[in-house]
Amino acid sequence: MEFSKEERAAIEKIKKLAKENKINISGGKIRRTSSRFCLGVEHGDYNGTELFGVGTDRFIWMAYKPNGTNIVRLFSGNFPKDGVVEFKPGNVPEPKSPDIAHTWARFPWGVDYVLRRAGHKLTEGIDGVIYGNIPGGGMSRSASLSLNLILSLFDANRIELKNKMDIVDLAQGVENDYIGSPCGKLDQIMILFAKEGMGTYYNPAKRSVDYIKLGKKAEDFRIVVMDTGTERPGLEKSTYKIRRSECEELVSLLKKSGYKISCLADIKKQKLCDEIIAKFSKKHTDLCQRLKYIFDAQQRFYEMLNAWKSGDIETVGRIFREDGIGLRDEYKISGPELETMCDIVRTIPGVLGERMLGGGDKGASGALVRPESVKAVRKAVDTAYPRSRPDFADKYAVHVCKIVDGVKVFNGLL
Ligand code: GLA
Repeated sequence: MEFSKEERAAIEKIKKLAKENKINISGGKIRRTSSRFCLGVEHGDYNGTELFGVGTDRFIWMAYKPNGTNIVRLFSGNFPKDGVVEFKPGNVPEPKSPDIAHTWARFPWGVDYVLRRAGHKLTEGIDGVIYGNIPGGGMSRSASLSLNLILSLFDANRIELKNKMDIVDLAQGVENDYIGSPCGKLDQIMILFAKEGMGTYYNPAKRSVDYIKLGKKAEDFRIVVMDTGTERPGLEKSTYKIRRSECEELVSLLKKSGYKISCLADIKKQKLCDEIIAKFSKKHTDLCQRLKYIFDAQQRFYEMLNAWKSGDIETVGRIFREDGIGLRDEYKISGPELETMCDIVRTIPGVLGERMLGGGDKGASGALVRPESVKAVRKAVDTAYPRSRPDFADKYAVHVCKIVDGVKVFNGLL
């Protein structure tokens, strides 16, 4: 196995942290979970659309070993001030309680809570060290962590679930029901199922996943993530929550008016969409704008899939850009720093498309870029971003990502 320089450094860091904090992982395993990059429909998961995305090579690594007791002992290299988190499964703070708000321990506690609720009792404790390099906001750091903890604790307790979609539900449960974040399932699906070099397609009607290879004639491209250096609060404290409830409000309004739909994705015909907008936009301008984005993005989604299949990366990029403009102007879920990044890279030749990523407000934007233009993207961001956003001059970063497997386990490294 060839590790990148960064990955080797992460593993060394984990070993050092284990020693310093007396966490015994020697002879144990490392589970690596990826981040994800969504190609569509962004904000479609809780609106019932089909989804498409890839796993990307910014990761969370968890090194662990059963410790022969019934206590879980974990240390995070990203939150060293929290010290060693130690708890007995079954004995964790109440969901959404004030005790959990300010510590990363809410993730392992939440995992214990949802597993127990689903009837999986953890009897075997583990010692573990976690470290990650996924930027916050846009690349699904929290889903990657939840999945990693669930899979690692399942492994140590010899619990196997036949249906991987159940693991998606458990990981979503950690965030929805324990932490209180109203996320959908996009992140968990796009990480858990991700395969190197492949696109993951999810059909919500069948709860099924298929892999779609990029068409042979595709010209090479890079996925570039531009972390704005801003901090995104939990989705429960952001515009995300408001958008979700707006979409639900429109669905219930339409149902009351006799439309036979259960989510905005059910509005698939242009005629129907136009009729609804004509009827409701005077009184519910905002809600109709949200629908407009979801409707158009869903129409573009199929065009994007076909373009991906045939290797027409130019079209994939164009649609990514159009989605970004819809997210900015109709769904209104972007943020000023995210748009600064988009505006900076949009004019560079070889940038095929750019938009905000993920939950919104803050975090990271992304772009699809021809390999020969990556240098120009870095240069433009390095020049323009600190000028536009001096407060984040020391915090932003540009990541050039590869498409990778979502979950990998390594033995023999510790
Ligand atoms: C966040 C949520 C996901 C999804 C995206 C937007 O990442 O966790 O469920 O809604 O935002 O596509």
